[in-house]
Amino acid sequence: MAQPEWLSKVENPWKQNPWFESVAVAQERARKRLPQPVYGALVAGSERGQSASDNQGAFAEIGFQPVVAGQKAPADQTTTVWGHEISQPVVISPTGVQAVHPDGEVAVARAAENRGTIMGLSNFASKSVEEVVATGARTMFQMYWTGERDVMVQRMQRAQDAGAIGLIATTDWSFSMGRDWGSPEIPEKVDLKTMVRFAPKVVTKPRWLWTFGRTGMIPDLTAPNLAPPGAAKGPTFFGAYYEWMTTTPPSWDDISWMREQWAQISGGKPFVLKGVSRVDDARRAVDAGVAGISVSNHGGNNLDGTPAAIRMVKPIADRVGGEIDVVVDGGIRRGSDVVKAVALGAKAVLIGRAYLWGLAANGEQGVGNVLDILRSGVDSTLRGMGVSSIHDVRPEHLLVPEGFHRTLGDG
Ligand SMILES: Cc1cc2nc3c(=O)[nH]c(=O)nc-3n(C[C@H](O)[C@H](O)[C@H](O)COP(=O)(O)O)c2cc1C
Repeated sequence: MAQPEWLSKVENPWKQNPWFESVAVAQERARKRLPQPVYGALVAGSERGQSASDNQGAFAEIGFQPVVAGQKAPADQTTTVWGHEISQPVVISPTGVQAVHPDGEVAVARAAENRGTIMGLSNFASKSVEEVVATGARTMFQMYWTGERDVMVQRMQRAQDAGAIGLIATTDWSFSMGRDWGSPEIPEKVDLKTMVRFAPKVVTKPRWLWTFGRTGMIPDLTAPNLAPPGAAKGPTFFGAYYEWMTTTPPSWDDISWMREQWAQISGGKPFVLKGVSRVDDARRAVDAGVAGISVSNHGGNNLDGTPAAIRMVKPIADRVGGEIDVVVDGGIRRGSDVVKAVALGAKAVLIGRAYLWGLAANGEQGVGNVLDILRSGVDSTLRGMGVSSIHDVRPEHLLVPEGFHRTLGDG
């Protein structure tokens, strides 16, 4: 559908100062802007939401010990993760989300590239790995354990051919179905019938409609990175989910197999296992030859009752952080959260909802805005503690309540 000429000349009547000062403000804008089912899909969480809320709440249990003099000038935040230098210890976590913004993951990748960090691209994403890598962003392609082995190999080969810099395997998923606050209705595809049915939820969101209307596109809710070779389109979101649900979950041998395939296909680019919560699993991941892990409970979307990721990171980093790059994801909303994670042993953090709120609020600039908020928050936290480098933060800089850490699988 081409954009009508008159539309390109009309000034956006819902325009507001697009800058926001915190991730919470971005989330509030996203809530107002997005149709309820789209917003609900980003809030996500599972069961009673215990893990999702602990992910954020646990950060608020940790405090700092500020100095009264001797604060240092803004510090260099450059660090290295999985063999790549990044300008701040924050990386984009892969999220398979549709219809937030017409530019979707391309906008996210541009912002990541522009700020000097790495883009994680989900196999459930709305944009293809080719389009995303074409932005110039260093892109880690993420795969679930889904489909036959030859299909997985094809998908890895495609990511390699497109120029991905590494592979993230996410294997913590248990297909939990219910949420106490209700799940958003996601249509199988967007056709005229669906548009009419969803119209009442959408017409009250003029800004969102405007963003899509200007591109002449409607969200198509397919997963282009899961398209069979030669196919014009990927499967629908539900088609992709069905393939995943009907695939036998991986064993440790399967994870080793996947890592070996990727090593052969890519010539040894990093392979990262995302979703680790137990120290024994972290050990097994090292034995399977991974370059890194993300300590994570999938943003509280997997097994509800798993502790907050930040509670699990120190025991795991203490155990394997000397051998591989350990990152953590879940609940990061401010620069001080990033500092807490690094002080407890993470090399960097991955962010999920934080950038999705930015994307919904203001597209590529909104994602850049979120990365800037995190950067300046790291700066002021280091300054307050009298520390001049992100590499110098230690647990001793924090106030961590007794019993905070959770060591899972140690016995
Ligand atoms: C809406 C949504 C979709 C997600 N999709 C994926 C995905 O496709 N692959 C994946 O590895 N993780 C996925 N995740 C998990 C994120 O990568 C990340 O682990 C999580 O969002 C971190 O928590 P945070 O949102 O509090 O930052 C998703 C998370 C959300 C909220």
